[in-house]
Amino acid sequence: MVDVLLGLQWGDEGKGKVVDYFAPNYDVIARFQGGPNAGHTLYVNGNKVVLHQIPSGIFHEGIINLIGNGVVLDPVTLKKECDKVAAFGVDVKKNLFIAERTNVIVPTHRALDKASELSKGDDKIGSTLKGIGPAYMDKTGRNSIRVGDLLRSDFQQIYQKLRAKHIQMLGIYNFEEDIAVWEQEFFEAVEFLKTLNIVNGEYFINRLINDGKKVLAEGAQGSMLDVDFGTFPFVTSSNTISAGVCTGLGIAPRHIGEVIGVTKAYCTRVGGGPFPTELFDESGAELRRIGHEFGATTGRPRRCGWIDLVALNYACMINGVTQLVMTKSDVLDDFSSLQVCTAYMVNGKETKDMPYQLVGADIVPVYQEFKGWDYAVANCKISEELPSSFQDYLQFIRAYLQVDIRYVSNGPGREQILYHPATAVV
Ligand code: IMP
Ligand code: MG
Repeated sequence: MVDVLLGLQWGDEGKGKVVDYFAPNYDVIARFQGGPNAGHTLYVNGNKVVLHQIPSGIFHEGIINLIGNGVVLDPVTLKKECDKVAAFGVDVKKNLFIAERTNVIVPTHRALDKASELSKGDDKIGSTLKGIGPAYMDKTGRNSIRVGDLLRSDFQQIYQKLRAKHIQMLGIYNFEEDIAVWEQEFFEAVEFLKTLNIVNGEYFINRLINDGKKVLAEGAQGSMLDVDFGTFPFVTSSNTISAGVCTGLGIAPRHIGEVIGVTKAYCTRVGGGPFPTELFDESGAELRRIGHEFGATTGRPRRCGWIDLVALNYACMINGVTQLVMTKSDVLDDFSSLQVCTAYMVNGKETKDMPYQLVGADIVPVYQEFKGWDYAVANCKISEELPSSFQDYLQFIRAYLQVDIRYVSNGPGREQILYHPATAVV
């Protein structure tokens, strides 16, 4: 069986920690989309580690970590990250596998990303500039280099052809960047990548599934950044939703079991684009300060706001979420009152549906107020110890979404996560 774990908001829901927590229940952790735009933060023996390309199961000996074909892979980031995990005694040659159909990010993709963002002016997406968009464009445009191509004897020719095409495109943008240093790093990293386990991902994973192994597909970014269903065009370039697991790993839908959706107890977004519950006041600044809401990949301050049940409900529907994990609940400890967005007023009309047009539309969130708990939830060792106003908050969200909140993370530590028994729907 394949379970899926993904973010339901705009990314940064704390998936890395949750995957790391669930990892011992699985034999395989597989990334199925996204690239080095992701930043999954883990704590290993008290040390903070941020992973961008390697699946979050890497610190568990005996767990297979697979980078699936749906990912875009930057060899330079991968090499750096392999060095980083090696310092913790991880032998990537043993438990990291890379699908040969994975598309490769080349230096000119990063330059094109920059050029494209610059050309958008005020409408810029706030891309992480890691080359994600251009790499996926080359995939669907049928131009890209895949990991399997790195092993071909004519790799240099394929690379030069693609590079020439990109240089032409950069010329149209009137954009110049000295990519010589990037290229040197790239070729060194490619040589390193070639020494890793490059496999046929689809046979690799299906054989493991047939052998009865348990797989956890680890999502990156969040559902509201999905290229089809997110707040287009302010999205990333991949399918971040559960459907992406099938195409991103090469497995059939019938193998999918649990779909575990991760949401923060509030909401954040980094980069541009609509964010109906965004707070521009002191409360927003407090969420950012207490929640350390700064991008793990870019260091940018994250925009903060109240939890948005309209967006969450939509994400639960699109993904078929079977259980929820709520993270960063401790960040709300000091708030005397909390708001929960239950509907939107769209051009003066109330709706609980996600509108097609969020950009440029007049959207005002409808809130329901909840009492804060004035208690350090980090002190709770079992979910029964959670204060009653927090239980009310959980229960309301659970009833609205019609999905159980099975785990509550109450601090950044590896052990700070509480199992929450299923509750009756009211
Ligand atoms: P790109 O995928 O780097 O091109 O970025 C597109 C949009 O998605 C930007 O608004 C980014 O800030 C956002 N984004 C991309 N990856 C992540 C992530 O892992 N967490 C949060 N936001 C992300
Ligand atoms: Mg992140």
